[in-house]
Formats: sequence, structure tokens, C-alpha cells
Amino acid sequence: MEWQNELTTLLKVQYPIIQAPMLGVSTPEMAAAVSNAGGLGSVAIGGLPPSQVRALIHQTRALTHKPFAVNFFAHEIAPVDPIHAGIMADFLFNMASQHRLPAARTDVQSLRFFSYRDQMEVLLEEQVPVVSFTFGIPDDDYIAAFKAAGVVLIGTATSTKEAMVLDQRGIDVITAQGIEAGGHRGTFLEHEPLPMVGVMSLVPAVAGITRKPVVAAGGIYNGHTVKAALQLGAQGVQPGTAFIASDESNAIPSYKTALLAASDTDTALTRAFSGRWARGIRNHFMQLVEEAGIPILPYPVQNALVAPIRAAAQKADDNEFVAMWAGQSANKSLRAPAAVILAALVEQAEAL
Ligand SMILES: Cc1cc2nc3c(=O)[nH]c(=O)nc-3n(C[C@H](O)[C@H](O)[C@H](O)COP(=O)(O)O)c2cc1C
Repeated sequence: MEWQNELTTLLKVQYPIIQAPMLGVSTPEMAAAVSNAGGLGSVAIGGLPPSQVRALIHQTRALTHKPFAVNFFAHEIAPVDPIHAGIMADFLFNMASQHRLPAARTDVQSLRFFSYRDQMEVLLEEQVPVVSFTFGIPDDDYIAAFKAAGVVLIGTATSTKEAMVLDQRGIDVITAQGIEAGGHRGTFLEHEPLPMVGVMSLVPAVAGITRKPVVAAGGIYNGHTVKAALQLGAQGVQPGTAFIASDESNAIPSYKTALLAASDTDTALTRAFSGRWARGIRNHFMQLVEEAGIPILPYPVQNALVAPIRAAAQKADDNEFVAMWAGQSANKSLRAPAAVILAALVEQAEAL
């Protein structure tokens, strides 16, 4: 099977398979393992302070000499509405106490957020070869600076309209994220209904309106799904859920167990954890927030308010109060080293 195409040439990789960036789940070890095995690993830095961004890049570089992508969140920071944030903070604090999770009440006044603009300098200084982003599109000045530095830019679209915007703004590669995908929707056009297009419809539609290489994201987990995506007009694939149960993943043991046991209908889209729509395995936290009827704050405010409860649950290996982001093919994931997962995708696709 011929793997080399325009995308592999751009990314300087053997296989057009990108390990999806997964904030909170992917690690430098995972990214390096995938890059060393011939794919493109991704390091997720959405909302992290610049010092941590630099440390993650250094940790990954210490483990691989191959290219990897660094992924940020290209959104504007929503202002904090102190009244509604206070109501949500109280609700979450009571929830944590009732469930014996040691999570402090978030001090709404002290919330501090990092925008992608705070991270740009580090990415340029560190000469990261590939930069991917979601939730929006960076300012033209940043796009120009990356282009001048020879950085390959990958943007995320959940509709053809979003793909057109990325194309027109000069983004090199377009990831078409279908509704089956795990984690946050990359959606960024405001005042539009949330795009809910599946990979089967989205990938050929996006490939039809742009000459840029398209990467399929959502429901990719084996040779058949890789080949199907390429048949639909994608030049590459970006599986995420397939790597959650990998040895290098930061997912807690009970999350991995729930992932492998999840049926096709066990995931749902929710705003309860972060304020942005994201797909994850249904759990008690989602149900409690959604049934409470309290207004959910916009991203990243809700995300910050929920952070203490998630951290406490993560420590206690309690999967009812962490975000178990996962796609609709969750139970097809493998417990194996990330390099073995990548090799299986390659070998299975080649055997077809
Ligand atoms: C746990 C998890 C975390 C994610 N975090 C990010 C992220 O930080 N940045 C990003 O661009 N996409 C993120 N995504 C979405 C992936 O890039 C990708 O679209 C998705 O995983 C593809 O669908 P699949 O999960 O069915 O393979 C995340 C997905 C998961 C499952």
C-alpha cells in the first residue's frame, strides 16, 4: 500500500496517521512513541501556561528526533459573569462534599486564563515543525509568523463552512472532525447551529471544496476505517479515542475500563464539564449538572470551575466525576503501547 502523499511530504512522516492531541490524556511519551513509529505524535497545550508548554515540548524532544505537532485552542476567552459563576461554584462545591471528593470551592475572583496568544512566543522560539489548533483560527499576524518560520499549520473544521474559512486564511491542512469524534467539537463559527455532520458526509464534502490535504477525525480505529477515510478523499487520519487506553495515556484506570466496556450509545455530547460541546461517556457528573438546570458558564469559565472536582476524582480513580472524553467507537480501543496501536492501523490497512 502506498502511504506517501502530499500530507506525508508536508509533515515529513512515513504514515499519514496523526495521534490526536488529547489535553489531559495524551503525554509526551505517547506523542514521541507515535512519531518514532512513523506517524505524527501530538502534544496538547490548550490553555496551559507558557512555562508548561515549553516543558512539554522539551520532554517530547528528549524522547524523539522525529517531527511532532503541538496543538492549541484558538478561541477568545469569555468574560467571567461573577454571579452565575458563583452559583455554579457553590453547586459544584456542594456536589463534591456530598460525594466525599476533597475539592475546594473555586474562588471566582482569582480565575486566571491563558490564551493561545500567551503561548505563541514559545512555539515560535522552540521552532515546532507542525502546529495544529481547534476552537477557532489564530490572528493573521500569528499565521504569517508561523508561515515565515516554515511551520505547517493544521486547523480543525466541523463543517464545510469552517473548512472554507481555514482554506481562505491560508491554513495548510484541514482536519475534518465528524460528530462521532471523542472530546471537544472544534466548532468555531458563532451564531450557527452546532454542526453535527458525520465523517462519512463531512470528509468528501470538505475534500470537494479545498485543494488542501484533508485529515479525517472521528471513529478511526482499525485498517478498515483508515482505508475508508482515504477512500472518502482524506489524505490522512487523526484517531484519538484509539489511543486513550494506551500504556502512555494519562487516563485513570477506571476511565480505561469504562472506555473498553462502552457501547455505541454510551457517549453523549455535553457542555457540563467545560462549557463547550464535547463527546464523552455518560456519567454521574454529567447527569447531575444537566438535571440541576443551573446555567452552564461558557468555556473556559465552566472548565475552570469544574477543575477541582475533576482533579479530586482523578486522584481517587473515580470515573463518575472525571470527563471521560471518548468517541462513538470507544470499545474498539486497545490496551497496548501507542507504537503497537499505530502499527496495527498500518498493518491492518495494508492487509486489506
Ligand atoms: C480525550 C480526548 C481529548 C481531546 N483533546 C483535544 C485537544 O486537546 N485538541 C484537539 O484539537 N482535539 C482534541 N480532541 C479531539 C481529537 O483531536 C479528535 O478530533 C478525535 O479524537 C477524533 O475522534 P475519535 O476520538 O473517534 O478518534 C480530543 C479527543 C479526546 C478523545
